Amino acid sequence: MKTFYIETYGCQMNIVDSEIVTSILLRNGYLYSDSIQNADIILLNTCSIREHAEDRVKARIRQINSLKKSNPNIKIGIIGCMAESLKEKLLNELPMLDLLAGPDVYRNLPEILSEVDRDNKIINTMLSEDETYSDILPTRYDTNGISAYVSIMRGCNNFCSYCVVPYTRGRERSRNVESIVDEVTSLAQQGFKEITLLGQNVNSYNYIETNFPLLLNILAEQFPQILFRFATSHPKDLSIELIETIAKYQNIAKSFHLPVQSGSDAILKKMNRKYTIDEYLEKVKLLRSAIPDITISTDIICGFSGETEDDHKQTIELMKEVKYFFAFMFKYSERPNTVASRKYADNVDEQTKTRRLNEIIDLQQKISYELNKQDIGKTYKVLVEGTSKKNNKEIFGRNSQNKVIVFPGDISMKGEFVNVEVVDCTSATLIGRLKN
Ligand code: SAH
Ligand code: SF4
Ligand code: F3S
Repeated sequence: MKTFYIETYGCQMNIVDSEIVTSILLRNGYLYSDSIQNADIILLNTCSIREHAEDRVKARIRQINSLKKSNPNIKIGIIGCMAESLKEKLLNELPMLDLLAGPDVYRNLPEILSEVDRDNKIINTMLSEDETYSDILPTRYDTNGISAYVSIMRGCNNFCSYCVVPYTRGRERSRNVESIVDEVTSLAQQGFKEITLLGQNVNSYNYIETNFPLLLNILAEQFPQILFRFATSHPKDLSIELIETIAKYQNIAKSFHLPVQSGSDAILKKMNRKYTIDEYLEKVKLLRSAIPDITISTDIICGFSGETEDDHKQTIELMKEVKYFFAFMFKYSERPNTVASRKYADNVDEQTKTRRLNEIIDLQQKISYELNKQDIGKTYKVLVEGTSKKNNKEIFGRNSQNKVIVFPGDISMKGEFVNVEVVDCTSATLIGRLKN
């Protein structure tokens, strides 16, 4: 029997995909290993979103290759988005690789591995229009037993001009409702308390007659003991119906990740984001008036093609206006084959990108700190996730608003919802004490 080891990079979707791959291989007689040392098959599930993500994986492959010296029978594979976007180029650059498999061919991995065993190098990057792996229950080895991800749709049709995802993940498709309910049922039976519904664009979920708000409705009603989160949403698909659904159920988290990418209409247009800042702000207003305690987070790219100092200032102004509680911030990284790489020059120099990124990171830290200070004195229901890394007499969890709270307590409370009063904070964390 052969043993496999899998290492995961990139987004939450990839975490679920690795769990699906694990299930497929276990079903086909392979053994799982959580250590690379005694594995016969080493798989890296990869990300292509920025060049840096790819560079890390390439360096890791070169490092892993040293294991082949002591055991030449080891097989090394790259699966996921890098396999899909780079194909044979990757094999030319890293000849030690034995297999490349894209995100829609995981069912074929057992056959691919048998071929590889006969010393053939295999590249399979077929994309599918309907694969959702809906019948495969993910095997969650690397879990805290409390929070789980459930994939509800795959792919993306938005073609933001900078983004590689529509090419690595193919067209949008939604998983059938029944299989989602079945998976959540199984997680609830295992004692999971928090489920994050995943998709590149979850709010465009649509399976026959069921759209995303309706799916949330079904889940929130049927599983009152579970807190539901979801990611990620495209602003253009944020509907009133969705806002009303979040407002209606206390077991749908009061936190919304609404990536804006830029504060400048000119840049948004070039990015093909399909909304203006006014339209975006209107959605933020709707969210906040219907759900006053909701927190909003975002993604921002700085230094996109042609971004002027004035565009950058507009991003800063937008951040000051919206007051995100959290933001993922990136320097633009040109990706091969995207519309931007063909049409728009990557013409903001590295130094300027770095300076702009640092400016928005500094600003975001100040805003997060200001917002966190306003939470002092408030009491929240918190799902306890584990022991604090810094102090083993403290435990931590997140509130419905997705803020991390650290407080003195015993790990026996793991998996419980407890009331915590906020007494202090940093820009990244709330500090609290248990309340009865
Ligand atoms: N589907 C999600 C997120 C996809 S990737 C959405 O649309 O919100 C996560 C984030 O990576 C994006 O929101 C964007 O901010 C960033 N990103 C995508 N492509 C990028 C690129 N070429 N360079 C830098 N950041 C990028
Ligand atoms: Fe990429 Fe845009 Fe699709 Fe998000 S919505 S995955 S940023 S193309
Ligand atoms: Fe990366 Fe692919 Fe996710 S490119 S962000 S792993 S969809």
